[in-house]
Amino acid sequence: MPDSAQHDAQTIHVLLEEGRAFKPSAAFTAQANAADKDIYERAEKDPEGFWASFAEELDWHKKWDKVLEWESPDAKWFVGGKINACYNCVDRHVQNGKRNKAALIWEGEPGEKRTLTYWDVYREVNKFANALKGLGIKKGDRVAIYLPMVPELIISVLACARIGAVHSVVFAGFSPEALAERINDAEAKLLITADGGFRRGMIIPLKHDADFALINTPSIESVVIVKRGDFPLRVKEGRDHWYHRLMQEADNYCEPEWMDSEDMLYILYTSGTTGKPKGIVHTTGGYLVGTYATSKLVFDLKPEDVFWCTADVGWVTGHSYLVYGPMANGATQVIYEGAPDWPDRDRFWQIVENNGVTVFYTAPTAIRAFMRWGEDEPDRHDLSTLRLLGSVGEPINPEAWMWYHKHIGGEKCPIVDTWWQTETGAIMITPLPGLTTTKPGSATRPFPGIKAEIRTDSGEVVEQGGGYLALTRPWPSMLRGIYGDPERFRDTYWTKWKDGAYFTGDGAKRDADGYFWVLGRVDDVINIAGHRLSTMEVESAFVDHPDVVETAVVGVADEIKGQAIAAFVTLREGVEMDDRLEERLKEHVVRKIGAIARPRQILFSAELPKTRSGKIMRRLLRDIASGRVPGDTSTLADPTVVEKLKRRYEED
Ligand code: PRX
Repeated sequence: MPDSAQHDAQTIHVLLEEGRAFKPSAAFTAQANAADKDIYERAEKDPEGFWASFAEELDWHKKWDKVLEWESPDAKWFVGGKINACYNCVDRHVQNGKRNKAALIWEGEPGEKRTLTYWDVYREVNKFANALKGLGIKKGDRVAIYLPMVPELIISVLACARIGAVHSVVFAGFSPEALAERINDAEAKLLITADGGFRRGMIIPLKHDADFALINTPSIESVVIVKRGDFPLRVKEGRDHWYHRLMQEADNYCEPEWMDSEDMLYILYTSGTTGKPKGIVHTTGGYLVGTYATSKLVFDLKPEDVFWCTADVGWVTGHSYLVYGPMANGATQVIYEGAPDWPDRDRFWQIVENNGVTVFYTAPTAIRAFMRWGEDEPDRHDLSTLRLLGSVGEPINPEAWMWYHKHIGGEKCPIVDTWWQTETGAIMITPLPGLTTTKPGSATRPFPGIKAEIRTDSGEVVEQGGGYLALTRPWPSMLRGIYGDPERFRDTYWTKWKDGAYFTGDGAKRDADGYFWVLGRVDDVINIAGHRLSTMEVESAFVDHPDVVETAVVGVADEIKGQAIAAFVTLREGVEMDDRLEERLKEHVVRKIGAIARPRQILFSAELPKTRSGKIMRRLLRDIASGRVPGDTSTLADPTVVEKLKRRYEED
């Protein structure tokens, strides 16, 4: 929890101004799923009725009695309803004319391709659900999933949902210790893993890694191994089972378990301010309504679309916008197993071209990598099928937005910059692509039915200016708890303000048009001489310079001003780093923001410490810049980066 006195957001000074605006074309609006501006007003007048209208589009075994019961922080949505998430993502499409429609078009990193129709998914999911039952898994049991991005990952998730088992997907890039910690916190009974997975041409030996975790996971009774390649491993008789063998013996049909709307669907671990990850709990009915509605309106999904969300199912984006949301909509999707630069830096554009991708959803960190690699990579490919682009995961700096718009979207695709969190389950602040005039760097407005505010520490609403981002009305896909820790749930999210509104942990500003600009976590705010600057704004100013590709800015102690800026900067390939460039960059930032933002130090570095999901770990940079011993590096994609940076910093 940030120190509220130190992070008093009343005085966040938003100094970077962004004047560009992009209106949706009349042609896009004419065909959009959300084409009527009244949608905002309608939802505002009757939010429960608005959400219920989407719930009506799902298939319920028994209709709900009441839309919402709410007493902060406890919400119940679609009370009394019975529903199955897998049935809504698979069975109903098989029955309603989409039996032969491609559901998943999968590309493995080495280049193989598999296409599964909705019928194929139906068959596989039913059989695997029976296999899980055969291994003793019942409604409410927790199942851990540690798989590469293969179709069996999605099949496993849906098979759990079918029988009412709670899935806990652990990103395959996590270490054995992290896996064990998550298995133990959830007391999972079964683990689904694979012999291995591919990443940049290397094999990640998942079962071998999982075996280390399994030394200390007493709750695990069985392990299922998906055969991805022909990678060596040890099979423990009695405990370990091959997926393909189980499937040979499994019956074809498994009756879906009709779940109470509020029964748990999954747990997903995310990091908080303490070292212990939080198991975010999502339930069934409301989550499905939220992901279904946002997929339909934000990604404008049509039967003929080919949607590609590049996120791994190990993260919430993969849960909501690869599995549940798009599949509840009956979408056709591309899934890719590997790295964007394997075998070459144009792999993504090759995939877009080969599969005729129409809607593409990725993260700013990826976009900045593409910028760094240069526009020749996308330019060599036919990207003309694209009609809509999305961004998620962190604030997108205006220059990356513009590059995405120009070089990927061909200046014709709307961009939806979607703000949300593991906790919110679904997109909360976003343009609607046929309705919203976008501004590069702004997630624009709350989705219809969502109420967001900027608040001061004491809870006053800031109509225009900066402060804390709050969600002030319950929404269907909201988290229902932190697994096994109701106190932490309450303290982290619901007690900041007296009225029990949801505290996002993010700082944001609202401009004169009422647009929201999410500035990043409030603990990433720097206070210089009593003025607050978002690290994001300083970073945007840096990245705006043609020689800079990526940067992370942290606050360091300054005797006179309280804090000063230290910047870690990655330059475009081929640019020479020298003192003159350092001075020019400082001047550039001053020009963009003001003298207050002049960085004290700049360290040039080819790499920045990032988590496996691509988030820059500013905490470690703060440690380096302050001369402290860097803290826990175990969640980094490449822990050696910190040592290298530290040495460089000390030499500098
Ligand atoms: O700080 C916000 C940032 O990512 C946080 C949520 O992270 P996580 O739970 O891992 O979920 C990421 C995928 C939904 C938020 O608190 N964030 C996410 N999307 C945006 C964003 N910041 C600015 N703009 C966004 N579009």
